[in-house]
Amino acid sequence: MDRNTLAKAPAGHVRSHTQLLHAATHPTHDLLDKAIMGHRPFADRERYGLFLRTQHGFHRDIDALYDDAGLAGLLPDLRGRRRLGLIERDLADLGVEPPAPDGDPAFLPGAAVDLPTALGWLYVAEGSNLGAAFLLKEAAKLGFSESFGARHLAGAPEGRGLHWRTFTTAFDAIPLDGDGEVRLIDGAVSGFARVLGFVDRQFRVPGQGRPSVSREDQRGEKHP
Ligand code: HEM
Repeated sequence: MDRNTLAKAPAGHVRSHTQLLHAATHPTHDLLDKAIMGHRPFADRERYGLFLRTQHGFHRDIDALYDDAGLAGLLPDLRGRRRLGLIERDLADLGVEPPAPDGDPAFLPGAAVDLPTALGWLYVAEGSNLGAAFLLKEAAKLGFSESFGARHLAGAPEGRGLHWRTFTTAFDAIPLDGDGEVRLIDGAVSGFARVLGFVDRQFRVPGQGRPSVSREDQRGEKHP
């Protein structure tokens, strides 16, 4: 499916950036769900520590974006949406070391960013918080909470749904031309691919194939 197919929603309706991204990355999200949940990240504290290390890898990649003045001017409360520090505290709660850095992060501090590409990556990060209610419930079964070990999975005080809508309303209002939309999708696809890479690196046992538990199997509910 290319961008032109995706952008043409039924009966000439033009999709918003987030609708476009949702459609373009839905299969990848399912793949990621299967990869993560199949590794049973909530089976015990050790495996949950591996999940935290996965999250650390991805949020280290995007951490510089939260200091970008251009992005901060477009997206509400961008700095408040940053989660690397919370993941570091979660790791410290468990007494688990962050993973050794795997080269430079995807976005370097202080470097100029391509706006649509950066937006694609931020969509992945914000969306993951939208779906995190389920993950927080699972982490709670291991004794973790918003104040210990699962800080980065906490919902916003105003609720995950509203926090997401505040983000998407501003996000969807950012003007992008056709080329910008292509880079937007590329950014989100790269972000998801990067997360998948970290999942594989943290959980993969040599000789073990990909797991097969789906998000639909695992969660009985939608986020609020
Ligand atoms: C770190 C890994 C993950 C990332 C990067 C991620 C990313 C995203 C993104 C971008 C969205 C927004 C989709 C939209 O446009 O509506 C989303 C939604 C959601 N995610 Fe995830 N996700 C991750 C892991 C998971 C896992 C493991 C589960 C559950 C097993 C999950 C459950 C959900 C749910 C319930 C939603 C709400 C909307 C929907 O059904 O698509 N996510 N996630």
